[in-house]
Amino acid sequence: MIELKQRVFSGVQPTGNLHLGNYLGAIARFAELQNSHECIYCVVDLHAITVWQDPASLAHNTREVTAAYIAAGINPQDHIIFNQSQVAEHAELAWMFNCTARIGWLNRMTQFKEKAGKNRENASVGLYAYPNLMAADILVYRATHVPVGEDQKQHLELSRDIAQKFNNDFSEQIADLGYNDGFFPLPEPLITGPATRVMSLRDGSKKMSKSDPSDLSRINLTDDADTIAKKIRKAKTDPEPLPSETDGLKGRPEAENLVGIFAALSGASADEVLRTHGGAQFSSFKQDLVNLAVEKMGPIGAEMQKLMDDTAHIDAILGDGAARAREIAAPVYAEVKKIAGLIA
Ligand code: AMP
Ligand code: TRP
Repeated sequence: MIELKQRVFSGVQPTGNLHLGNYLGAIARFAELQNSHECIYCVVDLHAITVWQDPASLAHNTREVTAAYIAAGINPQDHIIFNQSQVAEHAELAWMFNCTARIGWLNRMTQFKEKAGKNRENASVGLYAYPNLMAADILVYRATHVPVGEDQKQHLELSRDIAQKFNNDFSEQIADLGYNDGFFPLPEPLITGPATRVMSLRDGSKKMSKSDPSDLSRINLTDDADTIAKKIRKAKTDPEPLPSETDGLKGRPEAENLVGIFAALSGASADEVLRTHGGAQFSSFKQDLVNLAVEKMGPIGAEMQKLMDDTAHIDAILGDGAARAREIAAPVYAEVKKIAGLIA
């Protein structure tokens, strides 16, 4: 019997304005998993181009996400960091999955509806098929665990449905090849910690997003200390002091968000944060948050800047990672071809 190994895969789009939500919801979690798992972290450039990207910015942003991974402490020697378009098997398996997933499944995807907006007729076909490519990213490595922010939960469920349907559609061929538990694992989402959904600093009902027109809505990973301080001081709050228990955060989304950010940055739970800060006015809590955010995020921004000064070094890391990723992906995709009856 061929056993599945525990393997982590995740990705971030190189679409600019990497922010605190990306860090706390995803990249910081990526770094934590290094000690317990074999990890593959991808800069998903093929996902980025589902909406228009200026080519020069795309290249810059791809290197910047890579720099963020490294600055956050991910070790590109022990694990794999690469950009998606260098490993052709992602797109090839995505085509298979275009033929596995049903139109009805994709029609339910809320991210497509949000991103396509009112002008759906004019959205790219790629934006619609995006979740199939995401399933391929994960499954071409037969990855078992996927750390993501809350907003990716539905896409992960779709990836599981695709894996399941593929396993069912080809169950005979898969068993003939000696796989007793199906060919693809059903990947598990890892959505953990106090900041799986960081909200905008200007509006507690909207998530912090790369595409928000207001730069004050987010803390960018490249922001300097003064900018971080300014954005936190200007963050929207309500007039009440902080409660002493998390129950008291109900109906106070801005307060809940700042407490969640504090918790995630300090490695504590929201309960613990309120135990020490309950009763504080926002003016003093914000000052503590500024100090904490500058202490934790400042060095990451500085390291990113340093890495970005040597693009040849970043490109070498991506090239080396891609070669190692291909070594895993190619045999998996070769099996898929065999299973489906595609002559190699
Ligand atoms: P993206 O920028 O869409 O490529 O997202 C990269 C990763 O960051 C994904 O795992 C997202 O779920 C996560 N993420 C994006 N925005 C947020 C946010 N506001 N709060 C928490 N996680 C987020
Ligand atoms: N869709 C994810 C996002 O927008 C990025 C992504 C692409 C991804 N492929 C992935 C995340 C595979 C996890 C696993 O954030």
